[in-house]
Amino acid sequence: MKAILIEEHTKRLYIGTAPNPVCGEDDLIVRVKATSLNRADLLQREGNYPPPKGASEILGLEIAGIVEQVGNRVTDWEIGDRVFALLPGGGYAEKVVVPGKMALKIPDSLSFSEAAAIPEAFLTAYLNLVLLGELKEKEFVLIHAGASGVGTAAIQIAKEIGATIIVTAGSKEKLDYCLNLGADFAINYKDGDFSDKMMEITQNHGVDLILDFVGASFWQYNLDSISIDGRWILIGTLGGSEVNHVNIGLFLSKRIKYMGSTLRSRTPEFKIELTQAFKQFGIKGLEIGTIKPVIDKVYNWTDVEKAHMRMKENRNIGKIVLEID
Ligand SMILES: NC(=O)c1ccc[n+]([C@@H]2O[C@H](COP(=O)([O-])OP(=O)(O)OC[C@H]3O[C@@H](n4cnc5c(N)ncnc54)[C@H](OP(=O)(O)O)[C@@H]3O)[C@@H](O)[C@H]2O)c1
Repeated sequence: MKAILIEEHTKRLYIGTAPNPVCGEDDLIVRVKATSLNRADLLQREGNYPPPKGASEILGLEIAGIVEQVGNRVTDWEIGDRVFALLPGGGYAEKVVVPGKMALKIPDSLSFSEAAAIPEAFLTAYLNLVLLGELKEKEFVLIHAGASGVGTAAIQIAKEIGATIIVTAGSKEKLDYCLNLGADFAINYKDGDFSDKMMEITQNHGVDLILDFVGASFWQYNLDSISIDGRWILIGTLGGSEVNHVNIGLFLSKRIKYMGSTLRSRTPEFKIELTQAFKQFGIKGLEIGTIKPVIDKVYNWTDVEKAHMRMKENRNIGKIVLEID
């Protein structure tokens, strides 16, 4: 099959050939129609984020496509079904192998490109806001990188829950987009310390939950913004991972729960459970359009370099999709 590969020395991406995936008894082989980009792809390409053991070396954490082969023990899918799924790798290719239980049916109202923009962003947001963060109605949630793929999904999930949503982003265009999508407050982090604004918005309560993509550069501001009994979930380190001064006293006095969370390294069993839990929570909303994938731009996969550059330059609002022909 054809797949996007990484040239060893230059790290350039090109369409080459790779072995076809093998269908296990519980698996599907899916003919990929669309995949989408994740920040992790940029890191993996540079050799800084190796795939988990046993996963494909090919980039790509999510796909939408058509079932082409069905494993012997799979009973709920047929050849020709339209499916979308989270992957541990391998999405930048003509074909992928997916455990049957990890696949979801694409709602009739959605195209392949729209469906490919859902799994990683929505499952990450759902895992961290709902299952780990236990976000509740009327709580204050602070979502950093609000216009990112995961951020745009998180805004919509927090809205479904009925939380008050505060986002940060780095431009007026992105802040306006987040407000239109359902955020209640939007703050430009480039203006500096945002903790006073958090106290103003929350009337000195502080934010109950922080979805933190940024890490070190926001460390102190987050610490000053969080409420007593606040939950703070680190899912990325876009702003660095080394913090010089840590006042653990505030963790004690505010009774903060600080959690690190990664999705890719979870077991297939965990990902299947997560997929099924999200199906209960979100598939109806996706069908009727109350929640929707936010697509920044769709490229043909021959333009993968342009697509990666757009993400690297922080220009996207929502997901960048690659169509595969
Ligand atoms: N742990 C997990 O399971 C998991 C799963 C999926 C994604 N992630 C992480 O979630 C983050 C978002 O992923 P994505 O694919 O949705 O990203 P994305 O669409 O590429 O968006 C990332 C955005 O973050 C903002 N940003 C970049 N550097 C920043 C900095 N130093 N300080 C503040 N904001 C910064 C930029 O927007 P502005 O213009 O607003 O600065 C950028 O457009 C990444 O860190 C990714 O690794 C984690």
